Amino acid sequence: MRTLAILHAAQFVTLAGPRRPRVGAELGELAIVRDGGMLVRDGIVVATGSSDEIERIAPNETSIVDANGRVVLPGFVDAHAHPVFGGDRLDEFEMRTRGASYEEIAARGGGIRSTVRKTRVATEEQLQQRALKHARWFLQCGTTTVEAKSGYGLSLADELKILRVIRDLKEETPLELVPTFLGAHAVPDEYQDAPERYVDLVANEMLPQVAAERLAEYCDVFCEPGYFDLEMSGRLLTAAKAFGLGLRMHADQLTNSGGANLAAELSATTADHLEQTEDDGIAALKKGGVQPVLLPGSVYSLGKTRYPRAREMIRAGLAVVLATDFNPGSSPTPSMPMVLSLACTQMKMTPAEGVTAATINAAYSLARGQKIGSLEPGKVANFVVLDCADYRELAYYFGAPQISSVYIRGQRVWQAM
Ligand code: NIG
Ligand code: FE
Repeated sequence: MRTLAILHAAQFVTLAGPRRPRVGAELGELAIVRDGGMLVRDGIVVATGSSDEIERIAPNETSIVDANGRVVLPGFVDAHAHPVFGGDRLDEFEMRTRGASYEEIAARGGGIRSTVRKTRVATEEQLQQRALKHARWFLQCGTTTVEAKSGYGLSLADELKILRVIRDLKEETPLELVPTFLGAHAVPDEYQDAPERYVDLVANEMLPQVAAERLAEYCDVFCEPGYFDLEMSGRLLTAAKAFGLGLRMHADQLTNSGGANLAAELSATTADHLEQTEDDGIAALKKGGVQPVLLPGSVYSLGKTRYPRAREMIRAGLAVVLATDFNPGSSPTPSMPMVLSLACTQMKMTPAEGVTAATINAAYSLARGQKIGSLEPGKVANFVVLDCADYRELAYYFGAPQISSVYIRGQRVWQAM
């Protein structure tokens, strides 16, 4: 048995609270212990409290981590990411600096389809090496669990290739990955004239195989005119549900096209993006028990100005989640601290609401709320030591490297020089 005591955090941020996603004023309650710490045995939190209390109950052979006046926070849970892809989109990035829009570039055959071409020619081994680099980035930014979508293969063989890379990454990195099948990310080049036939392929060949090999926990669809309309999205997600997959959805990102309402009708676990969602969509999400996953990094990186309406969502009682949307096109950032900064400055979430949305609420959106996302007895000891004395510094000093060390299951997996 291996026992570890974390002591003397100026703020030991537990997020202890009700055993469900946090809503309304609860989003602002972090349950901070001053000069706090915890006892961890075999990777599981045994107790949290004041440093004095923890020192008193720690057995003799306990290893000590002295946080020395810094902040301790649960590891970030990034509930929306696309970490497996080939190549990059640097040329498109530069084209946007010269005035082209994401939509114009996609209409000319760029965008998602350009990454699909590069991902298809990459071997499993090449994708694995590249994804490992991304996994290291996530860890260095304080993320200990990340949702990982496929969606840059768009053929049976290439989607399976990506999902196997995600599965096998577990052997290579301590980062926990939650796999999501996103076969309906875009209509690939060879089906441009017959998108309905591509939907058939996803429903009749990809989904059954993904389910049979248990390669995904969730199914996602990019519900957007020009990609998959409401009818196609509804058909695919209904089929996915029948295979026992949970549902997530890229909804109302570029147009307010009824995505939030569809997510609610299908009782999806999450509806993600929601930049264009209005009051009726917000009310529908509440009624359908859907968690909104907000991705301000994609708005920022595309140079857009319309962020999702986080305040209205919180007021409506939704259990808001924040995530990076890490991908090579719209949001090339693995950094949850950057997302927290954007949430505070652009969506007027308080720093505490941001932290809740990036940890415990995100954990619940991945069906892991009873295991991770807060530091409470019985939970997995995934945590981050921050090089600051007040958790608000994380969102405030944006871009500053403040992650001092990162622990997964009580083991240190990364440390700043
Ligand atoms: O979440 N909107 C669809 N999917 C991604 C973009 C992917 C890409 O551009 O490669 C997103 O923003
Ligand atoms: Fe996305």
